[in-house]
Amino acid sequence: MEVKGYDEHINSQQRQASGAGRRGMTLSAGQPSQSQSSTGAHASVGQFFDQLSASYDAAILKGIPPYAELIGSVLGYCDMDSNRPWSILELGCGTGNLSLAIREMFPKSKLTLVDLSPEMLTQAAAKLKQAGTPEDHLTLVANGFMALDFQPQSFDLVISSMALHHLLDSEKPVLYQRIFNWLKPGGLFRCVDETLSLPAFAQAKNMTLWEAWARESGATTEDLQVWIDHAEQHDHYAPLAEHFRWLQAVGFSNVDCYWRKLMWTTFGALKP
Ligand SMILES: C[S@@+](CC[C@H](N)C(=O)[O-])C[C@H]1O[C@@H](n2cnc3c(N)ncnc32)[C@H](O)[C@@H]1O
Repeated sequence: MEVKGYDEHINSQQRQASGAGRRGMTLSAGQPSQSQSSTGAHASVGQFFDQLSASYDAAILKGIPPYAELIGSVLGYCDMDSNRPWSILELGCGTGNLSLAIREMFPKSKLTLVDLSPEMLTQAAAKLKQAGTPEDHLTLVANGFMALDFQPQSFDLVISSMALHHLLDSEKPVLYQRIFNWLKPGGLFRCVDETLSLPAFAQAKNMTLWEAWARESGATTEDLQVWIDHAEQHDHYAPLAEHFRWLQAVGFSNVDCYWRKLMWTTFGALKP
């Protein structure tokens, strides 16, 4: 697992840009393993987000009109003392919009950011550095979710926005089991993600409403097509009831949905 601080990540990105190659990254912890971004089943997801990284922030506001509300909802339901030095893992940080909000809400906490796309991770790292995050409060992991390997009971909070739907349904319960193990007793899992509405009529209606809302927010037909093509290739939405079943099966309690708008759903659970 490739674990880095800010400067180390940026330096390795620059080495790759100059042709040194993706596998040349320095490992500061854990055993060497091939990055899922270059070799695994999710490689094309990482490539999609690498290419989108510079324009992601503008694109996501048009593609998901209530994006700010989504981020606010997943963080707003973290009922934790803001003044304590928590250990927080964010899965699929992208360009760091939720990461920055976490940093503002929990300024004493240590944050581990994971993303398959080194380019998205670079954007996130730059935002957090700009916000004055101390180097020893930030760990960057450029790897796929299924390749992660943390010590048991490492984190107080595992949080994610709009990222876990990139896993296959067969992978999601496996990841939930690992998240359960990585959390300390009393730790929280919080997630906002796109879920599949049942019955099919409701899903179709949500898609129609999404399209109209995105157009009102400035998305063109081409913008919408980018997201539709991406979803067809890379997205695997599961019904909320399935997420609940998977979370409960690995031992989580207090499994619930806190907020929902169309297909975007904020849900969470507690490790007893
Ligand atoms: C739609 S973006 C969301 C980014 C950010 N959380 C936000 O809310 O703006 C999804 C992110 O998850 C990352 N991602 C997708 N599949 C992944 C995987 N299997 N392992 C690690 N990261 C993944 C992508 O690279 C991308 O940055």
